[in-house]
Formats: sequence, C-alpha cells, structure tokens
Amino acid sequence: MAHWRTRKAIVEVEDLAPEHRLKRSLGWPHLVALGVGAIVGTGILTLIGVGAAKAGPSVILSFAIAGVICAAAALAYAEMATMIPASGSAYTYTYVVLGELLAWIVGWSLILEYSLVVSAVAVGWSGYAAPLLEAWAGFPEALTQGPELGGIVNLPAIAIIAVVAGLLIYGLRESANVNAALVVVKVIALIVFVAVSLPYFNSANFEPFMPYGFPKSGPSGSEVGVMAAAAIIFFAFYGFDAIATAAEEAKNPGRDLSIGIVGSMVVCVIIYMAVAAAAIGALAYTRFANSPEPLALILREIGQPLAAQYLALSAVIALPTVILAFFYGQSRIFFVMARDGLLPRGLARVSGRGSPVRITIFTGIVVAILAGLIPLAELAALANAGTLTAFIAVAVCMLVMRRRAPDAERKFRTPLAWPVGAVAILGCLYLIYSLPQRTQIWFLGAHIVGLAIYLLYGARQSVAGTEDAPAGVAPR
Ligand code: ALA
Repeated sequence: MAHWRTRKAIVEVEDLAPEHRLKRSLGWPHLVALGVGAIVGTGILTLIGVGAAKAGPSVILSFAIAGVICAAAALAYAEMATMIPASGSAYTYTYVVLGELLAWIVGWSLILEYSLVVSAVAVGWSGYAAPLLEAWAGFPEALTQGPELGGIVNLPAIAIIAVVAGLLIYGLRESANVNAALVVVKVIALIVFVAVSLPYFNSANFEPFMPYGFPKSGPSGSEVGVMAAAAIIFFAFYGFDAIATAAEEAKNPGRDLSIGIVGSMVVCVIIYMAVAAAAIGALAYTRFANSPEPLALILREIGQPLAAQYLALSAVIALPTVILAFFYGQSRIFFVMARDGLLPRGLARVSGRGSPVRITIFTGIVVAILAGLIPLAELAALANAGTLTAFIAVAVCMLVMRRRAPDAERKFRTPLAWPVGAVAILGCLYLIYSLPQRTQIWFLGAHIVGLAIYLLYGARQSVAGTEDAPAGVAPR
C-alpha cells in the first residue's frame, strides 16, 4: 500500500463480495459516449434561453467562462479518476484524501447534483416534447408544466423518468449501447442547427453586447449579468464526471477514463461555442429568452419549420441519454455510500443483472416528484451548486495529493496542475457566488439536513469506523 492511503482506500474493489461488486463491462468508446451523452443536453438546448435572458448576447462569454472552469475541473477529475479508479468519483477521492466528514458533504452534494440533473433534464425534455404532444395527440397544456408556471403537473417529465429507470433496471450494457446510438442523433441535430441558422447570421444581433453588465447584479430573484448567466450555463458543461463514477466498471480504467473525460469535454466545448454564436447571430436574443424550446423556436422564426421539427424530434429521442447517464451516476454514488455504511446498506444490493434495483426505484420516485412540480431554472441552479462543490473538492484533492505523494503513480497527469487547480477552485467559488441567492439558501438547507443524517446515521454505521464490519466490505 502506498503510504498516503487511508483505511477507505484499503477497501479494494476486488476484495468485495460478488453482490457488492459491479461488472467490468465498459470500454473507452462506451465511456466517451457516456460522457458526450451526459454533457450535451438541456444546457445547450434550453438553458441557452435562460442564459440569454440574464446576459443578452454576452451569454456567449458566459459559455466561454463556464467552459474554461469546467475544463480545469475535468483535468483534475481525470487525474483523480485514474489514480483512484473506484466507483464514487468526487465522493471517493475526498474520502481517501480528506476524510469521511468532507466526503459526506461531497457525496451529499453529488446526490443532489445527480438527482436534480435527472429532474431538470426531464423538464427540458418535456419542453421539446410538449408542443409535439399537444399538436399530435391533443395533450392538455396544464399537464405539461408545474404549478409555478401555471400548470398542474409536468406529466411528460415524470413519464420519461419512469422509462429511463426501467432501462437501468433492465441492465447496464443494453443501456450503454442504446445511449451510444442516441448520442449520434443529438450531435447531428446540433450540427444541423448550426448549418441551417448560420446563413441568417446578423452581427447587429450582438449589439449591445453586454446589456446587463458582468458581475451578478439586481435584486434576489432577478439576478442578471454575464456571471449570473455563467452560473446557470455551467449546467451545459458537466456530465463527464458521470464517466468517473463508472470507473469500477471500466475494462481498462487508466487509459479509458482519461480518454473519456478529456475527449468528451473537448468535443462539447467546440459544439457549444458554435451553437451559441449561431443562435445569437440568427435571432435577437429577446425573442428566444426563457423559451422552453429556444433552438426550435429560432429555426421556426427564421423560416425553417422542417428543421425546427427535426431538431425537436431529435431532442425528444436523444435527451433521455442525459437522464440515463445521471440516473446511472446517482445510483452508483448512492451504492458506494451505502457500501461504506454511510447510507442504509440494504440499498446497496445488486440484482442478478448487475444493477442496484432498490436504489434506482427509490431515486426514480424522488426525482419524478421534483420534475413534476418545479421549474427547470430552479432545478438546474441547485444541481449546479452541488456540482460546483464536488468540483472544488476534486481540485483540492488533486493539489493535496501532488504535495502529499508527488511520486505516486498517475496514469494521467494534469498539465500545469497548480494553475489549473487554482482556476478550478476559484472559478467554481465565483460561480457559486453568482448563483441566485434563493439557490444558495436551499443548498445550505440541504446540507444542514444532510449533516443531521450523517451525525444520526452515517457516522455510527460507517464501515471504516467499525471493527466488526460485514464480510466482503471489511478493511483488511
Ligand atoms: N450537461 C447536461 C445538460 O446540459 C447536464 O443537460
């Protein structure tokens, strides 16, 4: 054992009893597909409208800022994921490097992140699906959005969550293959959007470039500016961490994880900058700000209704890949925390098909209720708070390990680790500060509840903290 390892790290994956072990079935193409599948989604398809409402044409700057910060965090993730290739991503790295209490806070943030992303993307999916359902099947509008937007409940969002939960329970490999095919549909739809809207590019749409200024400003509830938009747009960039949560199931973790994380991030940043520039150039931002389906709206407004339908249909077919990836990540985080004794261990049982069925059903019920009732922007902002916290932890872990064990084997080394780590940590802090005040308060509240659960349950049941840990999960 290398000297930096804590008791947690000694709980080796290969030593676990079969019912607590996940199958090694994923190669790097699966992981890149899992990454792009998780990254490209509601952020670019829908939140671009929320971002434009907050920043005007300078939302393009918000994309660049959020992208740079996320890329810095992705590099730290790749280093930690290949150094500690066990399920649980930021939670596991924090446990190993910084100890159990901070790991709990990070794990709880991840649970919030993954759950809320599933809910948010389901609502985003519904934004594109609802007009089709209304036109084709006469589906009532009141059942396509939650109460805050004047409806009763968002039924399509609940339905899509139920379908994805079913896929996950059916088994990982089938789901990952379906995912890979749908990623292609999604990427082609965005390329078509850029190709069709670029001829309508009008540079006058970029004036005035920064109507709401740079830092977050304005009263709570209507906070605007480039950074306020970046704090929301950040949602569009993450998802590569879903790859890291699959580390335990990767065939060749060292090589495959770094290709998966860095590769999928680069692909997405390129696509987004092109889409954002094409969208703002094609139509004045005020006309698509806050739309539930802004990219389809832009295509209709420039006189391309067929392309609009094609894009909406692609979104409806392919957005479930994002839900799938985060749902998958969520069940694995829960699984690993339960395996460590911080959450009820009965939930960590894996079925004969290799998937944790109970966790999937439990998570599905909670995220479906949230998706049915709460608006997209609020779900996304809270998900971002959880993600940003986890990213800070990963960057801190990377820097601590560079100090504590400079010579330990690293299959992937972040170039310029200290400046990159600093960009990740300070950037994420600035984005947390730029989130709506309401989100910050909810996030704090969620962590107070989380800490209470930890003190009353996790701290007493923790495997690392007990001498009589159950067979198969005991430290050697
Ligand atoms: N990046 C993912 C999306 O935009 C969460 O949907």
